[in-house]
Amino acid sequence: MAEILVNGGNRLQGEIPVSGAKNAALPLMAVTLLTAEPVTLRNCPDLHDISTLANLLRGLGSEVDASALGLASADALPVLRLHTPEIISIRAPYELVSQMRASILVLGPLVARMGRAEVSLPGGCAIGSRPVDLHLLGLEALGAHITLRDGYVFAETAHGGKARLQGAKITFPKVSVGATENVVMAATLAEGRTEVLNAAQEPEIVDLCQCLIAMGAQISGVGTSHLIIDGVENLGGVTHQVVADRIEAGTFAVAAAITGGELILKNGRLDHLGSLVRVLAEAGTVCAEISGGIHVASTVDRPHAVNVTTQPYPGFPTDLQAQTMSLMVVADGSAVLTETIFENRYMHVPELIRMGANIEIDGRIAVVRGVDRLYGAPVKASDLRASASLILAGLVATGETRLSDIHHLDRGYERIEEKLRGVGATIERHDGTDG
Ligand code: EPZ
Repeated sequence: MAEILVNGGNRLQGEIPVSGAKNAALPLMAVTLLTAEPVTLRNCPDLHDISTLANLLRGLGSEVDASALGLASADALPVLRLHTPEIISIRAPYELVSQMRASILVLGPLVARMGRAEVSLPGGCAIGSRPVDLHLLGLEALGAHITLRDGYVFAETAHGGKARLQGAKITFPKVSVGATENVVMAATLAEGRTEVLNAAQEPEIVDLCQCLIAMGAQISGVGTSHLIIDGVENLGGVTHQVVADRIEAGTFAVAAAITGGELILKNGRLDHLGSLVRVLAEAGTVCAEISGGIHVASTVDRPHAVNVTTQPYPGFPTDLQAQTMSLMVVADGSAVLTETIFENRYMHVPELIRMGANIEIDGRIAVVRGVDRLYGAPVKASDLRASASLILAGLVATGETRLSDIHHLDRGYERIEEKLRGVGATIERHDGTDG
């Protein structure tokens, strides 16, 4: 069984590359369904989730060339090429959708271009039930008739799927990244104007809108919670560079903080780290924008405790809660973390406690009392960001931490052990084939 082994105690120092954002690349891949022209995504990360969605798109009729993904080098950005001259199927099967929930993002584009779609309900995951009711609310507002049967969403525009979607005014009762993305993509080909209120504002949505505009979509309010999309007859092709991964960058910023180190996050965007910058500054680690990236430097012997509440962007990202908890575990005081986005995003807590952490959970609230020392231990990853938090704890723990179930990690982090080793971590991957 594949494992990652970490021996703690090293201060990280040097330059670490930040890849393209997983959570931007996934919706960007879905835009191929909106056009018969080629879509080229530069700086696309080489991740398991990308491969899963590529396979799903191939089943719908997309040609997907991922041959230039793993060849990233200093001067050549990895490239993913997609082309869907014709959609040969409107069905996204359970076997693939259940592997990767973001597959639901093919729903809006399929209905917009074909008038019909059959997409498996993605189901929940470790961090929560992950409903898609807001996605369906938005598409129904655009004129799609939605029925749920046999675990699938059946969507169809008027006149038996022959009519176009119709622009509408949609107010989301709660902020949803995926629902915003599905509705925006569908609305680009709808007839008339669509207004989306209480839209998510994550940088990945800005990146998606900028790509769609380059394809000929008419979108205003980009980066705000009020998006206006004027539908067009069809969209052209595009070459688009995927925005840098702010969650990967934030994970590495915490790695610098927890090891008392100093890192340059190459290609990272300081303006996308949001309120993490303030939290890290209060904890004693300073982030600053430099040409071509972010400079992160710890200024204290031991991190200070800082309270954190997760919120939709530009609030503190839920995807950095687990990593920040690892930092608070060794802080010189007590910190209260409140997870407001997902109902079960503390799966890393029992594993951190096995390493010597002092954490008490009460519903959405975690009280973390800083300890002087963590001890390496065999630990299990439960989800993507929990895996990262355990590696971060391992970087500062005394002794060896053995992280198993690392397939979660590979969904969202590109060669993380190589990147961390490159700045001084004692970390290696065992593929579990050595008997
Ligand atoms: C995206 O998930 C990200 N995934 C998640 O990152 C991220 O944690 C999340 O946004 C929040 O920022 C991708 O972009 C591929 P939501 P998404 O819809 O779109 C509820 C990672 O680690 N909700 O903004 O699924 C939902 O249950 C992953 O990279 C509904 O109730 O998140 C949650 O409580 C994890 N009904 C809240 O809204 C819906 O129809 C926010 O979910 C949709 C969501």
